[in-house]
Amino acid sequence: MCSTNPLNVFKGSDALAQFFDPDQNPPLPLVELPDALNPLRQDGVRIFAKMLTQLPAQNVKSLPALRMLRHESGASSKRIVEASSGSTVLSLGMVARALWNHEDVHAYVTNKKHPDSLKLLRFFGLNVNLYGGLAQQEPYDPKGIMARLRKLATNDKNICYPGQYHNDHNWKSHEQWTGAQIWKQLPETRVFCSTVGTGGCAVGTGTYLKTQNPSIKVLGVCNVFGDPTPGPRHFPNFESSPFPWQEAIDNFEDVSSADSYRASMKLSRHGIIAGPSSGEALHGLLAFLQRMKLEDKLQNLADPATGEIPCVFICADLPYQYMDMYYKKLGEEEFPNINNENLLHCDQDPYDERWFLTPVEAMRLLLESRPVESVVCSAPSAYSNDQYGSRPELIVLDLRPLDDYTASHVTGSRNNPLRNAREDFFSDADAVEERWHEMRHALESEEWSWRNGKTVLVLCSDGDSGRMATAILRAKGCDAFCVEGGYPALTDNLGDGGTKVTGCAKFSA
Ligand SMILES: Cc1ncc(COP(=O)(O)O)c(C=O)c1O
Repeated sequence: MCSTNPLNVFKGSDALAQFFDPDQNPPLPLVELPDALNPLRQDGVRIFAKMLTQLPAQNVKSLPALRMLRHESGASSKRIVEASSGSTVLSLGMVARALWNHEDVHAYVTNKKHPDSLKLLRFFGLNVNLYGGLAQQEPYDPKGIMARLRKLATNDKNICYPGQYHNDHNWKSHEQWTGAQIWKQLPETRVFCSTVGTGGCAVGTGTYLKTQNPSIKVLGVCNVFGDPTPGPRHFPNFESSPFPWQEAIDNFEDVSSADSYRASMKLSRHGIIAGPSSGEALHGLLAFLQRMKLEDKLQNLADPATGEIPCVFICADLPYQYMDMYYKKLGEEEFPNINNENLLHCDQDPYDERWFLTPVEAMRLLLESRPVESVVCSAPSAYSNDQYGSRPELIVLDLRPLDDYTASHVTGSRNNPLRNAREDFFSDADAVEERWHEMRHALESEEWSWRNGKTVLVLCSDGDSGRMATAILRAKGCDAFCVEGGYPALTDNLGDGGTKVTGCAKFSA
């Protein structure tokens, strides 16, 4: 904890090493939950979130990664390998760069991992090595990935394998920093709770807190067997851990993945932005406290001086990378509705402002293009037909009602009449959907005409219909443009007798 850097500025060639060093930072926030998230507030329970999400790597493994790498001799010039597809290897990658600008970090990852997770690892510059077979392998399975990596590091002195499941610097990092910070910030803590993956956080923090006050209860929260939440494990897989968990952890709770995701979503909505395993820790803590209450034992946990039960739980990472899973695990009814949802099923083609021409630009296009039909525009005398050379061929497609077209139009333009749309139809979702169906139907019959690399200029009455038509035509591979403001804006620019901007373009009545 740092009093020498109150302004939180990190400077110089080792700025990132300072930034990743908890001793050169203020303690991470410890934030009390509002009553809306604490159903036991009336029973004297106070719950505090310890935000390891605000570590530089934004996850719980930033601390073990730092301490493990600092204690691996020669790691800065070795290949660093770890069996992890999440927080641990992400943190190792960032810490290795922050300390030594070292990039040779390899993640060993199940081939069953979601492609988005692989993208995340590669985004952070990690080398991904896939393995087949069982996805989540046990640290001491002699045929498992971790045994293979141990062997690799034993046989090759250029390989560094921190091995988070057996490396004491994992849990000791939380003893050194997480536990020490919580004790300084909230010495009245009565219950500490963390999920259990390697057990590093629960064991290290619990060990420190119990050294200071042996009556503090430490709760480890595990996954329900066969229902994983990313990060933690289920208890039987943890039981063989070499970390001193029997001394550090008093009770265990199991929490389902749906309850974990839901609790993390609630936390996030209140501004304690945290991922599923953080929700698992909070849900497990509340389940434990509720049970104590039912058994009339809640007051056994209370601080004798105040009668209160201050509890701390760990927020271990952020929710964003799991967004798909929130929607898979929780019901649609748990999320706010989307208004105008019909717009998700129509008008989905991209719009691009470069396709929306000002009237002057549209005029230029008319002048510089080669007419496709007999007379798209009447060329000035200097342009004879063979002088069009390699100019793009142009189709002018007029979507206005027949009466309007008959009254005035660009000579040679094609009319595919649509009824006039209501004013500003993009302000009404039903009108957009209706216009889109109408437009698609109309443009299907036009498809023959823009094959073979022809450009299309769309004219409409209102400007908005032209934009929609252009998006539809572009999605079909056509080189389409429209005019901002539609046909009326184009004619407004004509000036006297159509000569001001047109030069050659001819409008017929
Ligand atoms: C998101 C998340 N939460 C919780 C844990 C469990 O932490 P520990 O390994 O310290 O038990 C992990 C471990 O990787 C994790 O990635």
